[in-house]
Amino acid sequence: MRVLGIETSCDETAASVVALDGGSAPEILSPKILSNVVLSQIEEHAAFGGVVPEIAARAHVEALDGIVEAALTDSAVSLDEVDAVAATAGPGLVGGLIVGLMTAKAIAAAANKPLIAINHLEGHALTARLTDGLDFPYLLLLVSGGHTQIVAVRGVGDYQRWASTIDDALGEAFDKTAKMLGLPYPGGPNVEKAAVSGNAGRFAFPRPMKGSAQPDFSFSGLKTAVRQAATAIAPLSDQDVADICASFQAAVADALGDRVARALARFRLEFPDKANPALVVAGGVAANRTIKGTLEALCSKAGFTFLAPPQKLCTDNAAMIAWAGIERLRAGMAGENAADFVPRSRWPLDSVSAPLVGSGRRGAKA
Ligand code: KG4
Ligand code: ZN
Repeated sequence: MRVLGIETSCDETAASVVALDGGSAPEILSPKILSNVVLSQIEEHAAFGGVVPEIAARAHVEALDGIVEAALTDSAVSLDEVDAVAATAGPGLVGGLIVGLMTAKAIAAAANKPLIAINHLEGHALTARLTDGLDFPYLLLLVSGGHTQIVAVRGVGDYQRWASTIDDALGEAFDKTAKMLGLPYPGGPNVEKAAVSGNAGRFAFPRPMKGSAQPDFSFSGLKTAVRQAATAIAPLSDQDVADICASFQAAVADALGDRVARALARFRLEFPDKANPALVVAGGVAANRTIKGTLEALCSKAGFTFLAPPQKLCTDNAAMIAWAGIERLRAGMAGENAADFVPRSRWPLDSVSAPLVGSGRRGAKA
């Protein structure tokens, strides 16, 4: 089985071919990433301190054909030889989604292949099966620039959101903090770098939601606290910036750890028979060493395996979309040919869990 995947939901233009050989033991997954081409638009957006949707959509239009061609060439698989085309159809920035899905529709129609519309979050959720052949069920922590969620991954198409942010995504909080402190975009890696020489004990920033019975995340109050602290001592020296970054990071790790500990305990209760349970992280923020260290410690205390797929597959890519396409094909859940599928800027992975308290009429943006 070979699937061409396309990803354009944010600021990465990506295409990939993933293969799964039907061996004698089909329950043992041995997928191969035949190509994985990712073009980051960071340079296009850096001057604005964040992703500008119109610039992103235009950049996708300009780059996508070449990226798809490169993915096919790298994989040495011709379009004729793929079994299906899978494209991210949401959630994300609608301009980019339109570019990716329309391109996929055109390729699928021209090559007479089925088209599979993939939820971007499902791509992240299933990555650990592509990289590590992980068995269901497991727990996923997704922390990126656009999303902050804890999801119980129970099967293909069977996801239960246990927690989500009621305001900013965690990556967004890093990016906004960096911007306030005059650090370049993307903020996360720069905040982490500055924090190395900072004193994490200098500022007592809040730990939002810590100890709350509501399982969700919140980061906007922390961001406001950072702004107030920075304004109070401006102009900032390099040491001030480092201290704020270190204190911010410590608050984030502490708050996140509290939320994840709750979810690990819930997983034990809901899946008491699951041997060797695992927590998987995905998203750009998972690169942060302080956060990773906190999660590793939590997992080892709770008897969970901690799994962080390689960074290239943790952040946005099309291999995860191609893989989600393969999983759906195998499960007989590829759906009708998605030629009529309309891109969805908001598309919850779990349509059953109640909307979030405090996240506004349209639900959490992340
Ligand atoms: O998954 P990702 O590459 O893209 C999407 O958001 O879709 O995540 C990017 C986010 C940005 O907000 C970036 O600041 C954050 O991940 N990030 C980090 C680190 N590296 C990237 N945040 C904290 N520490 C890092 N080392
Ligand atoms: Zn993503």
